Amino acid sequence: MLSVVVGGFFGDEGKGKVVAYLALNDEVSAAVRVGSVNAGHTVFWGGREFKLRIIPSAFVNGSCRLYIAAGSLVRLDVFFREISTLGVAGRVFVDKNAGIIEDKHVEIEARDEYLRNSIGSTLQGVGAAMVDRVMRRLKLAQDFPELRTYLVDLVDEVWRITSSGGNILIEGTQGTYLSLYHGTYPYVTSKDTTASGILSEVGLGPKYVDEVIIVFKAYVTRVGGGPLPGELPIDEVINRGWIEKASVTGRIRRAAPFDYNLAKRAVMLNSATQVALTCLDKIFPTSARVKEWGKLPPEAKRWVEDLEDVLRTPVTLIGTGDDVTHMIDRRKDLGVMT
Ligand code: IMP
Ligand code: MG
Repeated sequence: MLSVVVGGFFGDEGKGKVVAYLALNDEVSAAVRVGSVNAGHTVFWGGREFKLRIIPSAFVNGSCRLYIAAGSLVRLDVFFREISTLGVAGRVFVDKNAGIIEDKHVEIEARDEYLRNSIGSTLQGVGAAMVDRVMRRLKLAQDFPELRTYLVDLVDEVWRITSSGGNILIEGTQGTYLSLYHGTYPYVTSKDTTASGILSEVGLGPKYVDEVIIVFKAYVTRVGGGPLPGELPIDEVINRGWIEKASVTGRIRRAAPFDYNLAKRAVMLNSATQVALTCLDKIFPTSARVKEWGKLPPEAKRWVEDLEDVLRTPVTLIGTGDDVTHMIDRRKDLGVMT
């Protein structure tokens, strides 16, 4: 079984939490992270907060092998620091064709007024490294002796694991509307963040995927420039308890109510088969930390069911609090494969 987790809005929908939940609850033998270090995925687990920039959020499952895809871009300092902070040495592997971001890429972006002021880039060197990759001068993981013991051919590994019946979880980064092709260009990141782009970064054709799980937060947030339909004034964002700080840059996130038009189009763009909804407690405080569908207040249930009607897609997972375990899992009830 092969599942992809993709962001439905502008990133920060809670992909980290969803991936960590799935890794702990399904028998996931391998997890793959795509994208790069501009994307911070947060996992609250066992009373601790983990901010991940390159290691898959499935690290919470101690028997899960952790992979970084060929299309991803790694910064060696971030990579080695995360391995030691998380204590995951020995089960982390990097595709030999993954790209490496060097200091010069970070320096190029630091000097770029357009990226900084108009786009609101995280300035992590990702776009500059993508330029070098396109120009065919970027160094790859296989060019660095310090990565020698981590290198794999991920395409081979994925085949080996799936043919022996193992489950693989693929973790996308950012969100649909930050896609270089399908997002709010030019206010986007330097990659295609949709399910197809995620698969391409791994080296998987579209037919091998069983489930595409799209993650929506119960409201929409965005950091950096670009349109945000229905954007609320900051006072109102604070009032509603929707105030958030970006995990890589520490910037305050802009916020708006849930956007059905964006959500419908995102389901289409990603061929989503399931919706994971996060932060339900932020629009229905009485649903905080609830773990069973039956215990949700009726108005929250109705909101979720209306969403399913609009999107014509089952809402299988519902986040009701910060911790990985604050999750309602409706997959069995809805007859969805796990
Ligand atoms: P860059 O990819 O760092 O150059 O940033 C380009 C745009 O994407 C900026 O608006 C960033 O704020 C946004 N962005 C990049 N990565 C993330 C993320 O992980 N979450 C949310 N926004 C992101
Ligand atoms: Mg994030």
